[in-house]
Amino acid sequence: MNLKQAAARVTELRRLIRHHDRRYFIDHDPEITDRAYDALVRELDQLERGFPALDDPNSPTHRIGGAPLESFATVPHKSPMLSLQNSYDEDEVREFDARVRRFLGTEDPLAYVVELKIDGIAVALHFREGRFRQAITRGNGIEGDDITANLRTVRSVPLELDLSAGVWPQDVEIRGEAYFPRSGFDALNQRRVAQGEKRFANPRNAAAGTLKLLDPQEVGRRPLAFFAYQLVADPMPCPGHSEVLEFLQATGLPVNPHRKRVTGIDQAIELFSDWGEQRKQLDYDTDGLVLKVDDLGLQRRLGATGKAPRWGIAYKFETEEAVTRILEIDVQVGRTGAVTPVANLTPTDLLGTVVKRATLHNADEIARLDVRVGDWVAIEKGGEIIPKVTRVLTDRRTGDEQPFQFPTICPVCGKGLEQEEGEVAIRCVNEHCPAQLKRRITHFASRTAMDIEGLGHILVDQLVDEGHVRALPDIYGLRADLIADLTQLRQKPRGEPGELIPVRYGEKSAAKLVAALGGSKSRPLHRLLFGLGIRHVGIHAAQLLARAHGSLERLAAAGEEELAELHEIGPILAASVVRYFGDPRTRDLLASLTRQGIEPQAEEISLAADKLAGKIFVITGTLPAMTRAEAKSMITTNGGRVTGSVSGKTDYLLAGDNPGSKYEKALSLGVTILSEDDLRGLLRE
Ligand code: IVH
Repeated sequence: MNLKQAAARVTELRRLIRHHDRRYFIDHDPEITDRAYDALVRELDQLERGFPALDDPNSPTHRIGGAPLESFATVPHKSPMLSLQNSYDEDEVREFDARVRRFLGTEDPLAYVVELKIDGIAVALHFREGRFRQAITRGNGIEGDDITANLRTVRSVPLELDLSAGVWPQDVEIRGEAYFPRSGFDALNQRRVAQGEKRFANPRNAAAGTLKLLDPQEVGRRPLAFFAYQLVADPMPCPGHSEVLEFLQATGLPVNPHRKRVTGIDQAIELFSDWGEQRKQLDYDTDGLVLKVDDLGLQRRLGATGKAPRWGIAYKFETEEAVTRILEIDVQVGRTGAVTPVANLTPTDLLGTVVKRATLHNADEIARLDVRVGDWVAIEKGGEIIPKVTRVLTDRRTGDEQPFQFPTICPVCGKGLEQEEGEVAIRCVNEHCPAQLKRRITHFASRTAMDIEGLGHILVDQLVDEGHVRALPDIYGLRADLIADLTQLRQKPRGEPGELIPVRYGEKSAAKLVAALGGSKSRPLHRLLFGLGIRHVGIHAAQLLARAHGSLERLAAAGEEELAELHEIGPILAASVVRYFGDPRTRDLLASLTRQGIEPQAEEISLAADKLAGKIFVITGTLPAMTRAEAKSMITTNGGRVTGSVSGKTDYLLAGDNPGSKYEKALSLGVTILSEDDLRGLLRE
């Protein structure tokens, strides 16, 4: 065979191999057996060895990876590699749409492309005349590492593009995500464990770790893959992003098949709920969806702000957990004296909020999890406001972690802590402990309880700390002039951040607070009962008790059995109520409250148990004054039912702030939408 014949065969073999790579690695639909494929590669390899002049760095024979590197060269990006603004709910995405249209001065619905957000590592690929030339990591967005040798081994990246599909600028950059398929990830970790190496925490880390390897041959042994999502070229070959993606695909680049062009933001949002579940079926991790304005002309007009383009937004899926580190553990004293350990964390993002603290519940929980200061931990959002620590990543321990010593004295009042038999909670039993008093008052004044507007925890802390309030009833003796003269440290307007100046509370606020205190004196009985903070008595139980007994006196006189006769009141709750009213301190407290003019009203809401009979409710969003549990209890005690999703059978949607997709659905089905106040009104009717 002469050189010319060899050259022709080499070209043909490379074309064939490219074709079969595409069938196998991109379309996942091979045409020939692995054996037949290997035979083609072997023949090509032999020809290249026999005719070294025909060798080419982009030949498929070099997919196995070249010689190890000393280090990666740093290279600048032609244009900055930006990132996307994140959003976490529908409303933020609607705001994005409104912003874009405002900017463009259009009322018309815009066409968007919705794509999956692949959870991998951003990489830029450079091609000249269709031939792979260079790969660069995102780096700091301005310059990155030259990882050409590593990317050459990624089988889904074509080393020669099929340019028959259309007009193609000479130099192009293709940006996309290098990722580690889940299947390959598990196999890699097994291999690593067998070799005594550390496992990767997730496929994304595996992709990052693999791209950083200086040995391309090792990279070639790992099944890294790639999806292209952006073309940077001048001129652009087509007018819309969706067409660009089609075009990239036609040249043989891997483009994620799950993409959709939609018109208007509603159609985009409709895709969100499906993908929350469907993504779990994929063989790669995704952390959200990406919305992009389709029209490239509009994209250009929109431009970018700082680090992110105005034409796109990421909608992040709810991640169930985040991983962070415990800097310190301290304890909080609650209203019942229970001492709760709380972890102070390296701030981290969880479902769109920055989390700095997470609860560890109690000493038993600390022992069960074996949590130590300095540990890396997983945190999750629970039902409460502050997230909880769910597990320790023990393989990240360095040996410097310190076990936590549970305090033996109350960190606030210094009195000894006690643990009752059969109880997990460790408590401060000093009834004068200022921490407990503060929490009791804050709870008493809260919106679900006595609803004393203006008496929040900051003011309560100050009133107790400065000695103006030594017991709960003292709040009703507060005089307007005393409150007006209180000063609080506030951020100075236009001052340096952190610069605080004392500000008087003032006559106006003081008058308001005094009025609010006065107004709270005649709240319904169940609110007072709840506000007193009797152990085990939540708002629902308070309603049941108030309804059944009508007044404080009657309730105080009731015995355990009588209380427990009530449906839904169990023996523990009944015992707690009897214990509470039997305590002489309670009698003193109630007597002083009465002296201050507290006169709880017979139930405002008649708990007739049938007002809402047969009605089906759905609750969505954050309610202003009630928790969902409270709202649910209010509905069910009145004979209604609460279900999880809106359907044709739903009678009412109880909606608070940030209601989400249930709200839209209810609107479209013509379901009556109620606010918390509407619900109260309905029950009062
Ligand atoms: S478009 C200006 N599309 O998410 C940035 N990005 O913060 C344009 N990503 O850095 C990016 N899937 O690494 C785009 N379908 C997709 C994506 C995607 C994953 C990553 C990318 C980017 C980050 C956004």
